[in-house]
Amino acid sequence: MFRSILPALALAALALPATAQAGGKELFGEQKCTKCHTVKSEGIAATEEKEKIVDLSGTGKDHDVAWFKSWLMKEAEMDSKVKKGEKVKHKQKFKGSPADLDAIAAWLKTLTK
Ligand code: HEC
Repeated sequence: MFRSILPALALAALALPATAQAGGKELFGEQKCTKCHTVKSEGIAATEEKEKIVDLSGTGKDHDVAWFKSWLMKEAEMDSKVKKGEKVKHKQKFKGSPADLDAIAAWLKTLTK
């Protein structure tokens, strides 16, 4: 139930053109990205204690929106920042809707700090 109410509240509270960003940030939690990631620049903490938590602060400087979408669908590869010398695809395929994918990719692009 919260899944549908939270983004609606966030959008209503903002009611600004920046709604895509708010949506993306909400989705980051809803899609459980925080099982493996923090975004320290946004004050987003991990929800699980894991050895390998990857911080995504500043990731918007490294990639464009199309790449984020492709990466999240396990299509794009990159040089691993964790396992040096290896080409990797993402750990898991995005499970949200195409609109959710757009929103989350647009939000990732805003992470430039
Ligand atoms: C099961 C763990 C796991 C989950 C869940 C997960 N990721 Fe990741 N993600 C990783 C790992 C590990 C890497 C680092 C890959 C590497 O460098 O080898 C990564 C890398 C990334 C990168 C690339 C960062 C860079 O260094 O360029 C982005 C962007 C990203 N994840 C976004 C997301 C988003 C958005 C979600 C939620 C929809 C998500 N991840 C969910 C494990 C996860």
